[in-house]
Amino acid sequence: MNVPPRPNDLASFWMPFTANRQFKKAPRMFVAADGMHYTTDDGRKVLDGTAGLWCCNAGHNRPKIVEAIRQQAGELDYAPAFQMGHPKAFEFANRVTAIAPEGFDHVFFTNSGSESVDTALKMALAYHRVRGEAQRVRLIGRERGYHGINFGGMSVGGIAGNRKMFGVMLPGVDHIRHTHDLARNAFTRGEPEFGVEFADELERVCALHDPSTIAAVIVEPMAGSTGVLIPPKGYLQRLREICDKHGILLIFDEVITGFGRLGTPFASDRFGVKPDLFTAAKGLTNGVVPMGAVFTTSKIHDAFMTGPEHLIEFAHGYTYSANPIACAAGLGTLDTYAEDGLLTRGAELESYWADALHSLKGLPHVIDLRNLGLIGAIELEPIAGQPTKRAFDIFLDAYQSGILIRTTGDIIALSPPLIIEKAQIDELFGKLAEVLKRAA
Ligand SMILES: Cc1ncc(COP(=O)(O)O)c(C=O)c1O
Repeated sequence: MNVPPRPNDLASFWMPFTANRQFKKAPRMFVAADGMHYTTDDGRKVLDGTAGLWCCNAGHNRPKIVEAIRQQAGELDYAPAFQMGHPKAFEFANRVTAIAPEGFDHVFFTNSGSESVDTALKMALAYHRVRGEAQRVRLIGRERGYHGINFGGMSVGGIAGNRKMFGVMLPGVDHIRHTHDLARNAFTRGEPEFGVEFADELERVCALHDPSTIAAVIVEPMAGSTGVLIPPKGYLQRLREICDKHGILLIFDEVITGFGRLGTPFASDRFGVKPDLFTAAKGLTNGVVPMGAVFTTSKIHDAFMTGPEHLIEFAHGYTYSANPIACAAGLGTLDTYAEDGLLTRGAELESYWADALHSLKGLPHVIDLRNLGLIGAIELEPIAGQPTKRAFDIFLDAYQSGILIRTTGDIIALSPPLIIEKAQIDELFGKLAEVLKRAA
């Protein structure tokens, strides 16, 4: 006999990237969100210090986005993505490439950051093949990189804990070293002075494998999920130079950095370095409807546009690529960003934000503070023999104190909606300081 599910039973849902047993003993539930705040099921307001998961850049419950979704659902709920189109897909592609850095005239839609990464890797491999360089099959990532959780992204990713359970992954992948250097760069405001030479690791990898076998290098221009590693001054330029020298494509994973997070529309605008392809997701639709994207240049796109016209040029895509409701959400998001000036608001607030973050220097267990745009990280000394425990306990205490923060390892990462006001920055860091002072 079937036993009917118990109402509000928490057992069935196997939660992603969550300590399931801990959560289900003491659940943390959001039931509503508006502006800068979540509301919990016990009626408390929690200040969103993380824009959800780095995605709600315009804050929550934004009328233009809500209305666009409502209207679209009643007008055209779904259209096949293969061999058929709908106007909002083209409108959104035009609007979003218009704010992309110059030269990125083409966009391929996916449903997440992970899918965007795998799409970009496949595009890079296929690009070389269609041009007659089919021997370029290797992909190079970076230690501590996060490129989502699908097999391609996991393989080029470099967070050991995300890889160790899942076998040998893609062949032909190698990694350059990460850029974290506490000894030389701790407590730097903005881009660290030291570490441009870490990019030269790419030459070592090229020498080892023969550069003519390498298809692409993928990095986050600023590594987010591993705990906010800001690129050292000149590092990305150096990577670009080495890629150019060897005919290797450079892919930036802008899933976190896209759409204003660093005070410019994209990280490549801020750093003045252009990749060949870049990924986006999260802020693309303000996190409201799942959607991702890969942006690329005419040079890459046009290389595929050969052969008989009835043939599919790139055998890749998803049932929900350019889903009408996602496109509508994206259009509402771009309108909201434009109206509120959010793609550059991070630059206006950056120095206030940095002052607030760096005021935590000297508090117990704090061994580094890092910032760029509206991102901040607080690195903590781990409890001996219990890595991640200190930061996790701080996360729980912060939640009880009315602020949502995110931890990865023993690093706290902050990335609020770009609508944050100065008083809310004060509140976020004021409450966090109290939590840090009482942390074990
Ligand atoms: C740089 C980067 N790439 C890819 C992803 C994966 O995105 P998703 O969780 O939407 O698959 C993330 C998610 O945090 C990310 O930060």
